Parts: sequence; structure tokens; C-alpha cells
Amino acid sequence: MSLENRDWSINMKDSKTLFTTRSVQFNQFNKMDWLDLLNIKDGNSVLEIGCGAGAFCQRIKQTFPNCKVYGVDSNERHIDFAKQSAQKAGLDISFSVSDITNLSFENEKFDVVFTYGLVDDIAIAKFLPEQYRVLKIGGKLVVLSLDGKHNINHQVVIPEVKEERLWEKLAKANNDCIKGLHKLSVYDLMTAIKRQGFINPVLKFKNILWYCPDDSRFNTNFAKQMIMACKNFDLEILKIKQSQSNGLTGNNFHELENLITERYEQRLKKLESGEICWDYSSLFIRGVIAEKAKVNIYDA
Ligand SMILES: C[S@@+](CC[C@H](N)C(=O)[O-])C[C@H]1O[C@@H](n2cnc3c(N)ncnc32)[C@H](O)[C@@H]1O
Repeated sequence: MSLENRDWSINMKDSKTLFTTRSVQFNQFNKMDWLDLLNIKDGNSVLEIGCGAGAFCQRIKQTFPNCKVYGVDSNERHIDFAKQSAQKAGLDISFSVSDITNLSFENEKFDVVFTYGLVDDIAIAKFLPEQYRVLKIGGKLVVLSLDGKHNINHQVVIPEVKEERLWEKLAKANNDCIKGLHKLSVYDLMTAIKRQGFINPVLKFKNILWYCPDDSRFNTNFAKQMIMACKNFDLEILKIKQSQSNGLTGNNFHELENLITERYEQRLKKLESGEICWDYSSLFIRGVIAEKAKVNIYDA
């Protein structure tokens, strides 16, 4: 495999799960936070690389109908899903299967090229040259990633002791971290970006509330989607940690899957019965934004 550390991508759930989780993460009430990180203006030509099932591309097109939005990913299933889903939603977005180290776009096509999560997965030096090439002079590079250590979680259905023990066992086997997640320090990321020829680097952090089923802005249907997305997020983390450490036996793994599922079923029942819980979750997002220099370095 030419690109390193594919665990995160390989263990990503099916396209629908990826799509719904990300659609809930970027919702109409926190969109200003995301937009502040993304630096997109209406009418821009925008590319997301490693777009998965295309949820963020849809959100951008919904917000900025005059943008030309493109998404590429190496996973054919995600791209098929992304195309069908955008078509159903009546959104004109161009999705294609492509390796991000070898994009088929012409030079200087985009105003903004962004990634979410990808930098946790692949050595950025391998795909920065392509991002640089396809950006217009003065165009913006946006690198978003998750700082899992600072996410805030307040759960109301408390995990059973058995569930907590299994999570602890898994955490121990993983040395309390997910490999690959944030292997790049801000310093290393900024250095790679500068070396590529980008200028005016900016660093931003945002704590983005994405799960809060009792918030009166959300209707019951969206509240349900939030609970399901939160469950899928937990199951995603479980799968990744298990794949990296094999810290649980097969039986223990299935037991933990079932305990997580039961816990969220209990939460759904509370919602259905009208019980107010005020549980919430937020993502801590690191954003690095930089600009393509006026001097055309790659032609020099
Ligand atoms: C962590 S996921 C993030 C997906 C999406 N940004 C999201 O948050 O929903 C990383 C994505 O990068 C894609 N990917 C990994 N390596 C790639 C490559 N070399 N070229 C294109 N896409 C790649 C994976 O298929 C996966 O969909």
C-alpha cells in the first residue's frame, strides 16, 4: 500500500452511516461554525478531497447554491452513494472516484480545497502537491481534523459496568489513543504547508455542538437521527480501536457492540416517551487555513 495508515478509512462504516453521521455533525444550527472554518464564498469553485459519502459537499451546496462543488474519494461505494444521494436531493455536485495524490483536474481550478479527517489518515506531504496544483493563485487550502481528546460528551444513559470495563480493556490495548489520529502536530502540519509554498497560515479551533436531542431547535425526526449518529460514532470508534489492537476477544467485541446498541435504544425510548434528558456532545475541530502564494512555485 503506497499510502500509510489506512485504518480510519478502511474501518469507516458503510456509506449511509458515514453520510448520516456527517450530515448531523454539520447541521443548519451549527453551520456558521463550519463556514467560519471553511472560508467559502458563494460562487466559489470548491473541492473536497476524501469526501466520503458527500455529506459536507451537500451542506456546502445547500448553503451556497452558486458554488461549483466537487468531491473526490478513492472509495467507489462512497462515491456511488454520494452521487445518488445528491441527485435525490436535487443538488448539482460533481463526485468522482480519484486518488488524491493524482487528481485529474486541471491546474488552478479551485478557490477552496478542503479536507475533513483525511490528515489523520494519510501523510499530508503526499497530497499537498496536488492540492497546491489545483488551487487558483490566492486560493485557500483548508485542513480540518478532529481533536478527539477535547470532545465534550455528556451522556444520560450511563453505560453499564460491563460496557465500561470492555471500553477500558480496549483503551489499555490501544494505549489510550487511536493510532494515526492526530499524529501530525500543528507545527509539523504548518511546516509541511509552508514547504509546499502556501502563505498566510491561520490556526483555528472550534468546539462544535452536534448532538443535543432535547434542544428545541431540532424536531423529533432530527433528534432521532442525532441519537443514531451518536451510536454509530461510538461503534465506529470501537471498530477502529479493535482493528488496531485486537484488544477484545470476538465474544467481548460483539458483547460491547450489543451493549452500545442497547444503551442508545434506551435513549431513543426516552425521546419517544417525551422524557427530557439534556445530553449533549461536541466535536473539537482543528482548522488550518493557508493561501496559495501569488508566485507560481510549481512552474518555477
Ligand atoms: C476519515 S474519512 C473522512 C471522509 C469525509 N471527509 C467525512 O468526514 O465524511 C477519510 C476518507 O478519505 C478517503 N481516502 C483515503 N485515502 C484516499 C486516497 N488516497 N484518495 C482518495 N480518498 C482517500 C477514504 O475513502 C475516506 O472516505
